[in-house]
Amino acid sequence: MATINDNYLKLKAGYLFPEIARRVNAFAQANADAKIIKLGIGDVTEPLPQACVRAMIRATEEMGDRETFKGYGPEQGYAWLREKIAHHDFQARGCEIDPDEIFISDGSKCDTGNILEIFGNNNTIAVTDPVYPVYVDTNVMAGNTGDVKKNGEYEGLVYLPITAANNFTAQIPDEKVDLIYLCFPNNPTGATASKEHLQAWVDYAQANNSIIFFDAAYEAYITDSSIPHSIYEIEGARNCAIEFRSFSKNAGFTGTRCALTVVPKTLTAKADDGSDVELWKLWNRRQSTKFNGVSYIVQRGAEAVYSQEGKEQIQQLISFYLENAKIIREKLTAAGLQVNGGINAPYVWVKTPNELSSWDFFDKLLNTCNVVGTPGSGFGAAGEGYFRISAFNSRKNVEEAMKRITEKFKV
Ligand code: MLT
Repeated sequence: MATINDNYLKLKAGYLFPEIARRVNAFAQANADAKIIKLGIGDVTEPLPQACVRAMIRATEEMGDRETFKGYGPEQGYAWLREKIAHHDFQARGCEIDPDEIFISDGSKCDTGNILEIFGNNNTIAVTDPVYPVYVDTNVMAGNTGDVKKNGEYEGLVYLPITAANNFTAQIPDEKVDLIYLCFPNNPTGATASKEHLQAWVDYAQANNSIIFFDAAYEAYITDSSIPHSIYEIEGARNCAIEFRSFSKNAGFTGTRCALTVVPKTLTAKADDGSDVELWKLWNRRQSTKFNGVSYIVQRGAEAVYSQEGKEQIQQLISFYLENAKIIREKLTAAGLQVNGGINAPYVWVKTPNELSSWDFFDKLLNTCNVVGTPGSGFGAAGEGYFRISAFNSRKNVEEAMKRITEKFKV
């Protein structure tokens, strides 16, 4: 008799965003005339930069020509893309990252989950609270947690609050943890981490032989020059951090799919026999066995991000979404709501009015304003009483959504 991975039974009913989509679809079916505006999932709405589009058209034509056709590419990604990333994203910021420490993939969501395969099951794992739910759910699936508790936390995980009480910074634990997930600019709070804060994390990780999983998917939204874009801007990070990056939120590749993971060759962890093993070798082995690379066409599209034209077009996209975030912040603040984030990030983290729970506010907003956001409690127990509003939508929709919300929720 076939058996299942019982860890899946520990998961909460549905993954957050499909659960929201299910509720919104049910509402839409019952209210056919409602003009719903979605500021929930952080999915981009603006078309791809022309530089990327043109590069992908050229690449498609190459694939249709016998002389330039390509079959399987390198599992780690084409050298020309890895070189550009190493140069523009890392070396230009003073980070010592070599092209062959960069692995191209089809998404940071998959990579942040898959990375667990190269680690043992006895690690103590820390996540922030609130947190991007993928980090938690993939640990549950991998059997790295116990059961879910009443407050939604899983036994066996260490939760590090990111709350108003600590000014939305990730609290460094008193205990020793082995693996730590950090995401800055933060999803969902939109908070950022200063150089000093990240240095404290790197110092902690080096002192405790821990590994930091640094999710920098939103780094392009940093406008404050004092805030690091990469964990490798921090001294010592090559010895303790893996970084995840994505083309989804800067170049609008959520539907096109391209991302990257950096595993420095200097990074090691212990084998059962106590020896030090290079994590790069394990990740390389994993990727070459289970992954056949991102399509040539998409990698050419990603390469165009680093052309002069591509850089300018991406900057326009980022500025557009940041202006949306500014409008959201200003309108909600003027209506008396308490807002955080949305300055160096595309997410605005709003305190729910009148002590409403996150899901109650979600329902009220959907029913009375036909606006969709994301309940803070969906990101963890400490997110209760908060609500995330995403800046990813057209200007017209953002303005209309703010008009509807501020009319109904003046406090
Ligand atoms: C979000 O809304 O948190 C993001 O869309 C998640 C993701 O990028 O997978």
